[in-house]
Amino acid sequence: MPVRRSSIRWEMVEIELRGAQFREAKHAMSSWLPCRGCGLSDFPLGGSPWSPRHRAMVPMVDLGNLPLANRLLSVTSTSNAPYPLVVYYCHNCALIQLADLVPRTEMFTDYVYLTSASKTMMEHFDRYAEGITRRLDLTAKDRVLDVGSNDGTLLKAFQRRGARVLGIEPARNVASIAEAAGVPTLTNYFDLKLAKRLEKVRLVTANNILSHVGSLRDFLATVAHVLRPNGLFVFELPWVADVLRNNSFDMIYHEHLSYFGLKPLTRALREEGLFLVDLEYYPSIHGGTFRGFASPSFEEPSHLVKEMSAREEKEADFWALRDFSERVPKLAHHLRDMLLSLKKEGKRIAGYGAPAKATILLNYCGIGRDILDYASDTTPLKQGKLIPGVKIPVVSPELARTKPPDYYLLLAWNFRQEILAKEREFLDKGGRFVVPFPQPEFVDS
Ligand code: TYD
Repeated sequence: MPVRRSSIRWEMVEIELRGAQFREAKHAMSSWLPCRGCGLSDFPLGGSPWSPRHRAMVPMVDLGNLPLANRLLSVTSTSNAPYPLVVYYCHNCALIQLADLVPRTEMFTDYVYLTSASKTMMEHFDRYAEGITRRLDLTAKDRVLDVGSNDGTLLKAFQRRGARVLGIEPARNVASIAEAAGVPTLTNYFDLKLAKRLEKVRLVTANNILSHVGSLRDFLATVAHVLRPNGLFVFELPWVADVLRNNSFDMIYHEHLSYFGLKPLTRALREEGLFLVDLEYYPSIHGGTFRGFASPSFEEPSHLVKEMSAREEKEADFWALRDFSERVPKLAHHLRDMLLSLKKEGKRIAGYGAPAKATILLNYCGIGRDILDYASDTTPLKQGKLIPGVKIPVVSPELARTKPPDYYLLLAWNFRQEILAKEREFLDKGGRFVVPFPQPEFVDS
């Protein structure tokens, strides 16, 4: 059984980290791991240098060695090296994060995630562009810069409303989809060198990007540099309190370096000259997403900023993360047992969706080809490939319909509503879904 309880010893993690940092020569060799949010690594309390009590950063959740979640395998290439997946908590600023172990060129050069893959996200981004265009009264004179612009879905929605747009997207394959759709896109990482070549803009957007950023503070400083004084930085992120409450440990993967609460985020923004002035909250987007509005000039934060920050004091603190780390292995066992019982009854099971999350869920729980026949996914870039580690083939929904299972494990659980509505016929014919979070459960018609 591959599920293992966390068995972290600080010394082991430290040695691994040092080795990795050295190999990548990304960080100067330092004995403690610095926090991505506040930069602190240890408290100068003296005592034994190995004592965790003296560290700002403590390892809390160990998911073991897992493959890179978005690196689907082609049937001929079978290697996707596993990397350790260990979540840390910073006692100084409360940022929950991973160590920066995987070279980013391994993760972002060829990307299979497409924003346009779901109706939910297309509609969400359309309303997003509408809301911000009104809020800022954007006109054709204003320019919108979207960092991590993916296939250009959001910018297209701004273009439709008359704004000038520019996308920044390091993954060549998705950037070219945006270009083909008429969205000007630079295939670059967003850094100060690039920002100095750009005109100042009224609006910078970055959705589900800050979690991916290794040098968080440099990134925020770059946003501050490129914004006009009356500009706004608008970003979306999964709220870590939701990840913890929903037990959705599959949101933890190597690309997601930080799991944001408002407290550490507000602090990092402020230290780079940006003020979190407002929020919107979308409970059904990616299991719970907030949209932050940060301004270069100070304003009293809105009521929702204060309310959610207060909730977070209990829901995303050290103890909440510790409880989560204890629940995760139990949930994984439970889910696998449920599926094994179905197999014993002779049921056929397949995965619904092949999101990055599926790589983590399936590999961590030990759900392989002995349990799932295939995973069905609408993204053509994923079809014909294998989910790394467990090597489950990804097929098109059309192909899946020729061999429907008795049960679908809902791997794309964040689109539950959209998918259950779409699969009415499967449910009406007696098919069932297994939904993994917040606790594994069956859903039927
Ligand atoms: P998503 O949860 O957006 O991303 P991540 O990779 O970050 O975890 O991925 C959802 C996947 O599910 C995506 O590959 C498209 C697929 N999908 C379907 O196959 N059918 C559907 O009806 C929907 C909504 C998504």
